[in-house]
Amino acid sequence: MLRDGAMQGKTIIVTGGGTGLGKSISRYLVQLGANVTICSRRQAVIDETAHELMTEPGRPAGAGQVLAVACDVRNPTEIENVISQTIEKFGRIDGLLNNSAGNFISPTERLSYKAFDTIVDIVLRGTYYFTLAVGKYWIENKIPGTVLNISTTYASTGSGYVVPSAVAKGGALIMTKSLAAEWGKYGIRLNAIAPGPFPTKGAWDRLFPEPLASMMDPTSRIPLKRVGEHGELANLAAYLLSDYSGYITGETITIDGGEVLAAGEFSHLEQVTSEQWDMIEQTIKQANRASKKEGQG
Ligand code: HXC
Ligand code: NAP
Repeated sequence: MLRDGAMQGKTIIVTGGGTGLGKSISRYLVQLGANVTICSRRQAVIDETAHELMTEPGRPAGAGQVLAVACDVRNPTEIENVISQTIEKFGRIDGLLNNSAGNFISPTERLSYKAFDTIVDIVLRGTYYFTLAVGKYWIENKIPGTVLNISTTYASTGSGYVVPSAVAKGGALIMTKSLAAEWGKYGIRLNAIAPGPFPTKGAWDRLFPEPLASMMDPTSRIPLKRVGEHGELANLAAYLLSDYSGYITGETITIDGGEVLAAGEFSHLEQVTSEQWDMIEQTIKQANRASKKEGQG
């Protein structure tokens, strides 16, 4: 979507950049000329991704560099190490993509305290620790940085069976809006993307495992009748991390093929056939006529 070289000179940190959506967004940022630091717990995974993104066939001449630094986003010392290694290699940091997450479906009453903590700590604590660390660096160095948080649609609606994730993503969304208001004076912007289903191994293994996957088709309740494509999300993410979105802050952009809207009160009428609509129309009109008559009498 953006022109070649649109992210030249920018350095972006992508948490969870070794796999799934974080990897796809990192790939696009690098193609647009950004230098990207990818971090997550598994050094071997991020090393492999860094190598792949640096050696891909068709890599544009002005593509950026990739640095892989292991980090558990629940650990401030490891976060500070990512920041200092990024500055050492690339000179500065312009953007932070909080994309790391942990999640799995479960009836909430089956969760141990530790299970709940694990998800909330990765998603909420990890997001505010990283944002705080990078924000302090930006304010001290007068850099107008940009944070983009990968949220979910249920961060606003709530959802059963992923309650720790909903609690944590909801908290991160409020942080996005709150800090957008507070740090606007430093030129720092914070936005979020709320994706619907975008196939990744990480999410599918934990949210649509067998036998669920063969029992229900996640696309059936999506108005556009398909899942998202990684390129569609990467376009939006690159735009929100770029200077082209310079007047947007505190926003959450939903990219879900209309899935959330399909929860509307009467969306189940999708099932009604044309013949049934003929009958329904007649019944309603008959009732209208009867009520008019009543008014006249
Ligand atoms: C019940 C479970 C469980 C399950 C783990 N636990 N899986 N409880 N049902 N299915 C419990 C464990 O028993 C343990 O509690 C506690 O959770 C921590 O588990 P560990 O395995 O020790 O944790 P850890 O090794 O840190 O792994 C974290 C993880 C794992 C979240 C559990 O799945 C992971 O590493 N995930 C990272 C990637 C990921 O989740 N990607 C999906 C993001 S998708 P006890 O008390 O027994 O010790 C996403 C999108 C949503 O967010 C929207 C889609 C449309
Ligand atoms: P994914 O591939 O499993 O990505 C999750 C990433 O988080 C992994 O790279 C993982 O790497 C990293 N991570 C987990 N715990 C971490 C920790 N403690 N510290 C640092 N990194 C950690 O799944 P995905 O689908 O691409 O998800 C990416 C983001 O999109 C998440 O925020 C998710 O909530 C969001 N999302 C996804 C969908 C979807 O349909 N796929 C929909 C809505 C929102 P390590 O294991 O190496 O640490």
